[in-house]
Amino acid sequence: MFDIAGVTILVVLIVVFGFLTLRAWKAKRRWLKWMGALLSGLLTLVSAALLILALTGFYKLNQHFDNPITEVSITASPQQIARGAQLANICVSCHTPGSQMPLSGSNFAAKFDFPPLGALYAPNLTPSGNIADWTDGEVIRAIREGVDRNGRFLLIMPSANFRHMSDEDVQALVAYLRSQPAAGEPTPDTQFNLLGAIFMNLVDFRVAQPPVGHVAAPSAETPAYGKYMVDVIGCRDCHGDQLQGKLASGQPGPPPGPNLTQLMPQWTEEEFMTFFNTGTLPGGGTVPILTLKSGFTESKMPWEMVRAASTDEELKAMFTYLHTLSPVQGPTP
Ligand code: HEC
Ligand code: HEC
Repeated sequence: MFDIAGVTILVVLIVVFGFLTLRAWKAKRRWLKWMGALLSGLLTLVSAALLILALTGFYKLNQHFDNPITEVSITASPQQIARGAQLANICVSCHTPGSQMPLSGSNFAAKFDFPPLGALYAPNLTPSGNIADWTDGEVIRAIREGVDRNGRFLLIMPSANFRHMSDEDVQALVAYLRSQPAAGEPTPDTQFNLLGAIFMNLVDFRVAQPPVGHVAAPSAETPAYGKYMVDVIGCRDCHGDQLQGKLASGQPGPPPGPNLTQLMPQWTEEEFMTFFNTGTLPGGGTVPILTLKSGFTESKMPWEMVRAASTDEELKAMFTYLHTLSPVQGPTP
């Protein structure tokens, strides 16, 4: 992707300001010479710096990755499709216009109140959408490694979490994606503009992961299995790498959550299950709702998504895992 118009404007500005700098330098009047040269010289430098940032950004946006594609043949048994349908709840908040199936894609940048950085869609994942003619291996690579069919790094897609997904689970997910009823049109291609490319130097939205290879899920109902679900669902995106809690960073991103290593020892399994089943906290309150300018609303703590994406056994395994963590001092209580 490239923004020819934007980059051309910058180049023209550099030439014009550069020319004005030379003109001012040749001026006879001293004040005009110094003031004019300083001002237009500065503008030339700023435009040149922006051009360099923009070109660096476009270089990043267009970088290609040639992770191998594994050939798989997915049988799509009813159990597999049911498991995939459950895991697909993790995709709903981004890959739907609201927060409900089907995964017909969303205008992601608009939905999540992005500044005008260009077009960014979370693509339509139903059989009438963008991935319809991709191989299963290509879709698996996109999910777990954040690389699209042509080897382009995907943006935002939480592949750093999905790389933990077992071969079985990711295949079930693809079986489900293929089995959904077709809904909507293919979504437009991701296309960052000049501003988006410059912005890439501040926040790198790329998510590409090294090749994943084979992943086996840990045995069910163990703390290791709980950790598996915590990693795949992405609790750490909001609660911190060590689940030690996070503070608002001032950068675009999901809402920061509290320190689970200190909170969880105070909760019983029953309280944990009640929270995920009903959204009610042990004290009786509920978590606040996040409302975006686009009108999209979601619970700050996406308990409904977590509930829908996990079985009872999986929720209990997560609880067990969270109880094995030693409390660490985090930025939040
Ligand atoms: C936090 C938001 C978010 C979540 C959650 C998310 N995705 Fe994505 N996904 C994106 C965005 C944004 C893109 C497009 C990125 C780009 O074009 O650079 C994308 C791209 C993809 C692609 C590439 C499709 C194409 O046509 O290029 C696939 C496949 C995909 N996602 C599958 C999934 C699946 C399956 C899940 C759930 C398990 C999921 N995503 C969850 C944001 C998300
Ligand atoms: C999108 C961000 C996000 C994700 C993902 C997320 N959380 Fe949270 N979580 C929050 C926020 C924000 C709060 C605090 C809500 C509030 O202000 O009360 C919270 C609160 C909680 C609470 C209640 C604590 C309390 O007293 O408020 C629990 C328990 C919890 N999260 C567990 C989890 C687990 C387990 C996962 C993964 C399966 C997870 N969270 C994933 C953002 C998130």
